[in-house]
Amino acid sequence: MNDQDPQKQHRPKKVLSGMRPTGKLHLGHYHGALKNWARLQSEYECFYFIADWHALTTDYGDTELFGNNVVDMVIDWLATGIDPKSASIFLQSAVPEHAELHLLLSMTTPLSWLERVPSYKEQQARLEGKSLDTYGFLGYPLLQAADILIYGAGYVPVGGDQAAHVELTREVARRFNHMYGAPVLVEPEALHTKVTKLPGLDGQKMSKSYNNSIALREAPEAVEKKIRTMPTDPARVRRTDPGDPDKCPVWQFHEVYSDKKTRKWVREGCASAGIGCIDCKKPVIEAVLGELEPIRQAARPFEDNPDEVRAIIVEGGERARDTAGATMERVRAVMGLDRW
Ligand code: TRP
Ligand code: SF4
Repeated sequence: MNDQDPQKQHRPKKVLSGMRPTGKLHLGHYHGALKNWARLQSEYECFYFIADWHALTTDYGDTELFGNNVVDMVIDWLATGIDPKSASIFLQSAVPEHAELHLLLSMTTPLSWLERVPSYKEQQARLEGKSLDTYGFLGYPLLQAADILIYGAGYVPVGGDQAAHVELTREVARRFNHMYGAPVLVEPEALHTKVTKLPGLDGQKMSKSYNNSIALREAPEAVEKKIRTMPTDPARVRRTDPGDPDKCPVWQFHEVYSDKKTRKWVREGCASAGIGCIDCKKPVIEAVLGELEPIRQAARPFEDNPDEVRAIIVEGGERARDTAGATMERVRAVMGLDRW
């Protein structure tokens, strides 16, 4: 290949990631994604977008999704330090080039590649009350591939559940470049940076739908109450019963929030029944409240002025379109679609 090969050019890599517009975010999003997104924006050119079309693949009947959910989610991005001056924040549907690339990639992508993506059958089984035998749902990972490839993103920070989608993206790019004999699309890599894993209040994955989450902008009293009433090791029925931190979700919070000394205090105090669960939870409550307070403060001006948030999203969309448009020109050219 020649100097034009995008894989071989030592251009600084671009970073892209997206989230479906689920509304207000929780501590799991913060520790698992947003902290990392904020860190990356000082090192790379970053594109962070709201995947509203992806939300439609499973919630196609729910048009309420898009009003407040988008603004609420972006307020949380901004309040946790995503800076619209460093990163382009935008709405997927404001960049219709994603849909065009998705369509063109659908010509060369075998159905079997999509059918074997693990999330396809898993989600269909999980959301079994809903008809997901749709064309759009099958195409979910291909639309995601278009999202990534249209920006020439080298890195895609995502959780482990999305690794198969990034792998598919690489295969799609390789096939496209091979078929049209030009290295137009960049093969991305998933960026599984070591993120802190914060479980939900019950020890399962934190998720709004499991009712085990703490929202980033939740009122302090509510946060305190949720942690105070968190389940603990079921063996500690009475204060005098010893417990095992490894069987307790509160311990997992200590692992994220507490220093060595406090963790030692917990392990010894729990095993010897020297401390009660209420004592044990106190430092966690303080640490979580301390972490959330600046986020709540930073969110306030945006809550008071949602039009500013909308303006940020519109402006980010314009920047995104410039990059996406440039890729589409190359894609159309190699496919012979630029002759008219
Ligand atoms: N599928 C991702 C999720 O559910 C969201 C997403 C859509 C995405 N397009 C993307 C993530 C492109 C990274 C890159 O979390
Ligand atoms: Fe859990 Fe702490 Fe109670 Fe032990 S003392 S069971 S770690 S809350």
